[in-house]
Amino acid sequence: MDKILIKGGKPLLGSVEISGAKNAALPALAATLLTGDAVVLQNVPCVRDIQTTGQVLRDLGCDTDFRTLALTHSCRVSAQNVTSCEAPYELVKTMRASVLVLGPLLARFGKARVSLPGGCAIGARPIDLHIKAFEKLGAEIAIEHGYVEARAPRLKGAEIFFDRITVTGTENLMMAAALAEGHTVLNNAAREPEVADLADLLRAMGAQISGEGSSVIRIQGVERLHGAQHTIIPDRIETGTFLAAGAITGGEVEIRACRPDHLCAVIEKLEETGVVIERPSPSILKVSAPHGIKARNVTTVEHPGFATDMQAQYMALMTQGEGTSIVTETIFENRFMHASEMVRMGASIKIEGNRAIVFGKTQLTGAKVIASDLRASASLVLAGLVAQGDTLIDRVYHLDRGYEGIEEKLKALGADIHRSQ
Ligand code: EPZ
Repeated sequence: MDKILIKGGKPLLGSVEISGAKNAALPALAATLLTGDAVVLQNVPCVRDIQTTGQVLRDLGCDTDFRTLALTHSCRVSAQNVTSCEAPYELVKTMRASVLVLGPLLARFGKARVSLPGGCAIGARPIDLHIKAFEKLGAEIAIEHGYVEARAPRLKGAEIFFDRITVTGTENLMMAAALAEGHTVLNNAAREPEVADLADLLRAMGAQISGEGSSVIRIQGVERLHGAQHTIIPDRIETGTFLAAGAITGGEVEIRACRPDHLCAVIEKLEETGVVIERPSPSILKVSAPHGIKARNVTTVEHPGFATDMQAQYMALMTQGEGTSIVTETIFENRFMHASEMVRMGASIKIEGNRAIVFGKTQLTGAKVIASDLRASASLVLAGLVAQGDTLIDRVYHLDRGYEGIEEKLKALGADIHRSQ
């Protein structure tokens, strides 16, 4: 099982290019099921979750071409000959985002059998809101043997109210409503940039959608959708992670091919802590922390608020902040797994329910640590970059799910980091 070894204490200096957003590419790949025509996606990150989704699509009978993904970051999918409408447990358990095939399969073929994703390290993560909304569109749904069995001769548009904001729930329903008969309104919809990116792709395929980016999305169903070519937006969480990396190491990093407007709350919060962030161009950020880091509280909320996917990375930074900060997590019920690993590196963190109280500044020392989920593993990399001595991070397959070549990118910035068995 791969491990990453980091010798900490080196300020990061230089320039890094941001990859495409995993959480935009995943729904985009699911959307290819909505048409028999070929769909070409560009700026797709070459990460494990994308490869897994390719396998899910092939198992459904799609013709896919991912051969040049690592080189060109583009891939093609043609769902002309779908032979199955089932996403099996063996694949869904490795990547819960596979539930995103539910909406497209139901809308185009009138049926879908998808394994319930089960929980993960950060929480129970049910999909009850997805299911309730599909039923509003007229689907008959049974939950048996750990699977969602859904049927609908033809989905019918409806007014839907999400009891709580759900990103993939919004995406699943946008895709289903695109081929439903009549008009659908999604109220209390997620406003994430990845939702807006999916709407752009669906419109390019012929869907009639408006309101994305707001909490009310309107979709007028159409008879069929056609192929398209679409470029995935940059990854705002990778961008935030490199902002934190430049700041925590006291370096100076230029971050290219990013979308600063997709992470305003993260940028604003980092600037509150004393991090200096310049915007030399609309797609470039420059980060440094010449005056050190001040402790500042943060609360994660749905977009456009401070992203839960940046909480762990921010906590790592706050271990180097002068003073006491409170990190409050409101999205997931168990997203502090990284805290205990940081404490083993010398951090002083006290967990009280959904709040983590971080007492800084503490000198971190390298240690053997274990990654528990994608963003926790990123936070342990950040801690290792600033710790004195060697940090060995185990179970880095979590990292490979969502960060393309992170150790190469960090090595190019001067980090002493490499992968080991
Ligand atoms: C998406 O997950 C992201 N994944 C997550 O990123 C991200 O952390 C999350 O949104 C929140 O921003 C992808 O886009 C592939 P939710 P999702 O449905 O859609 C509860 C990463 O690190 N809920 O918005 O699964 C749920 O338990 C990953 O890249 C229900 O109760 O998250 C959670 O507490 C981690 N019932 C809250 O809502 C439902 O039916 C938000 O979940 C659905 C969700």
